[in-house]
Amino acid sequence: MNDGAGSSRKKRVFSGMQPSGEAHLGNYLGALSRWVDMQDDFDCIWCIVDDHAITAGGDPAELPGHVFDLAVSYVAVGLDPERAIIFVQSDVHQHTELAWLFNAVTPVGDLERMTQFKDKSQRFESVPAGILNYPILQAADILVYKSDAVPVGEDQKQHIELTRDIARKFNAAYGDTFPEPEPLIGRAGRILGLDGDAKMSKSLGNTVPILSEPDEIWERVRTAVTDPQRVRRDDPGRPEVCNVFALHGHFGDAALVEDVATQCRAATRGCVDCKRILSENISKRFAPFRARAAELKAKPTLVREILDDGANRARAIAEETLREVRERMGLDWRRGVPNG
Ligand code: TRP
Repeated sequence: MNDGAGSSRKKRVFSGMQPSGEAHLGNYLGALSRWVDMQDDFDCIWCIVDDHAITAGGDPAELPGHVFDLAVSYVAVGLDPERAIIFVQSDVHQHTELAWLFNAVTPVGDLERMTQFKDKSQRFESVPAGILNYPILQAADILVYKSDAVPVGEDQKQHIELTRDIARKFNAAYGDTFPEPEPLIGRAGRILGLDGDAKMSKSLGNTVPILSEPDEIWERVRTAVTDPQRVRRDDPGRPEVCNVFALHGHFGDAALVEDVATQCRAATRGCVDCKRILSENISKRFAPFRARAAELKAKPTLVREILDDGANRARAIAEETLREVRERMGLDWRRGVPNG
């Protein structure tokens, strides 16, 4: 829609992650590794969504450190401040301003039927409005840059559909302003945590942090749940129900994966040895990230400069959109002051 005929501009992509500290293996496989690859083909904006994080009710004293740690993870895995905009949401106030303005075109019923809202609201006796309005801010994040596409996991698809609805309703009410961004759903599927049971998530404590040292990675991987029916070492295992096997698929080549499956079924390799191989492959893959993270942590001002510069570049685009939106909504009151 905003990629007019004859325009050779790259499509713009926006995505973000809540700051809960250093990224973990699920973040990497599900999101960050794809984001890194997209930087060649798209005009990319990568955000750390701290304004969203406050709806989760964490400790304010910890939030700044979590933002820093996630910024280090972003850059360490290869998000590139030269090619992409990397910034913190609360630095660009236009997101929250646009979210307020989108309240005018968003039906409460649409917010109430969001699966995430239904899940999260059950945890509260008195549900904060921020939990309900969360997807409006997410729509603002995306649309304030007139983004064409949004790489997200399956669990966010509904929020992107709502973003499209909001864009459509805004355009219908106030004139053509926003594109309807496409969700780009990853192939990685749901990355289960080490419990083999729930999605990998920091709050569940079932993760492998990507910047850990090899011995720490082993300490985590060692605890991974395997086939519950394989009780003794010489019981044959079932790779198809084993999450460690699923993870091998992300870190080993086809020959290794086949070997792991064969040895598991024949009970010629025990789960501990199998996990050791996985742990070593994870450590190897993440080694360059650990090295880059160490450099960044030794130069924290560099991280600050990256985020400050990103915010400046983001703000310039966002303010242009807000100027247009305020005008379309009649929020340019100076126009009403008679001449004279
Ligand atoms: N809600 C997203 C999540 O929990 C994070 C997010 C906030 C986001 N704003 C966004 C993702 C905009 C994509 C685009 O994963």
